[in-house]
Amino acid sequence: SKRAIILGIETSCDDTGCGIVDTQGNLLGEALHSQHLTHLNNGGIIPPIAHDLHRQNIENVVQQALKSASLSLNEVDAIATTVKPGLPLSLIIGAKYGKYLCKKYHKPFIPVHHMEAHALTARMFDKSIEFPFLVLLISGGHCLLAVANSVDEFLLLGESIDDAPGEAFDKMARRLKIKNLPQYSTLSGGAAIELATSEATDFLDFAGIKAVFLRHIWRAEKKGIPPDGVMSGYQNLCASFLLTTTRHLCHRVQRGMEYLARKKLIPPDKQTLVVSGGVACNNFIAEGLQIVCENLNYKFIRPPPKFCTDNGIMIAWNGVERWNANIGVYKNFDDIEIAST
Ligand code: KG4
Ligand code: ZN
Repeated sequence: SKRAIILGIETSCDDTGCGIVDTQGNLLGEALHSQHLTHLNNGGIIPPIAHDLHRQNIENVVQQALKSASLSLNEVDAIATTVKPGLPLSLIIGAKYGKYLCKKYHKPFIPVHHMEAHALTARMFDKSIEFPFLVLLISGGHCLLAVANSVDEFLLLGESIDDAPGEAFDKMARRLKIKNLPQYSTLSGGAAIELATSEATDFLDFAGIKAVFLRHIWRAEKKGIPPDGVMSGYQNLCASFLLTTTRHLCHRVQRGMEYLARKKLIPPDKQTLVVSGGVACNNFIAEGLQIVCENLNYKFIRPPPKFCTDNGIMIAWNGVERWNANIGVYKNFDDIEIAST
């Protein structure tokens, strides 16, 4: 079929993203505005602030993406936009703007599920990935293991029952105050913990982790803490936390693979694990998963780090997948609503 151009808009959390991709999978343009530093100063995302920042930046981000692609909106064939899951106050900005552009330029609207977009992005970079494949999504908001059976059919094998790993990393980095140290000040919690780990001399077990935390609190009480508030030995604590998280994820993925083999849900010659989401940027976790894959005869695939975190390209690509399969491309879209889950 004729080559089409899809523009994607992402505003589900704290990144305002726009990407432009054609139906052959060529990346034509992109722009991203991150609210990361604002939220860092507030100690977390405050939804009305995220809302205002999305509103202030959305138009500019879309224009920038178009400019980087040397395209005008008239040349775009459809607009894909994240409508769920996410923060309602964030989602609403992208959804309203995407629909507004569709109406103004007479384009169809493609509503996108943020997690499905994360799951399928890898297919843009590696065209050899065929359905079905196993996908692990690990981010600040999610932790799930699923089989991607087609563009819009996913079999959920397991999900986090409480915190997502990125959330745990972020909270821990905050409590440790390691961002007081300049080398960590602009990093996400997860990235800071990964960097600290590179200076670790020891991995601790659970009792060890507890002991270090207790010592930290005790020192704080005795005012024996250094002026920046960062405890000594934080590197070992970070390393231990990362190791424990990695071990847990690997164990769960291995169990998932064994289940799929028993149930014959993925043919032996097609066994592929795709890992994505912000936490997939972590090289230590990726190496652990790679070992599981080698042992169980799975191909291991991770998109480039900047496409593991939230971005507009993954939404545009999901639009391409839907356009090509002719699933969920709407000429009438007034009734399509955003949803937090
Ligand atoms: O997918 P994402 O951009 O946003 C959502 O949460 O949907 O993921 C952001 C998360 C944050 O929690 C951040 O700490 C984590 O990804 N992250 C990492 C690394 N880089 C980012 N976690 C572990 N290691 C990293 N290198
Ligand atoms: Zn995400």
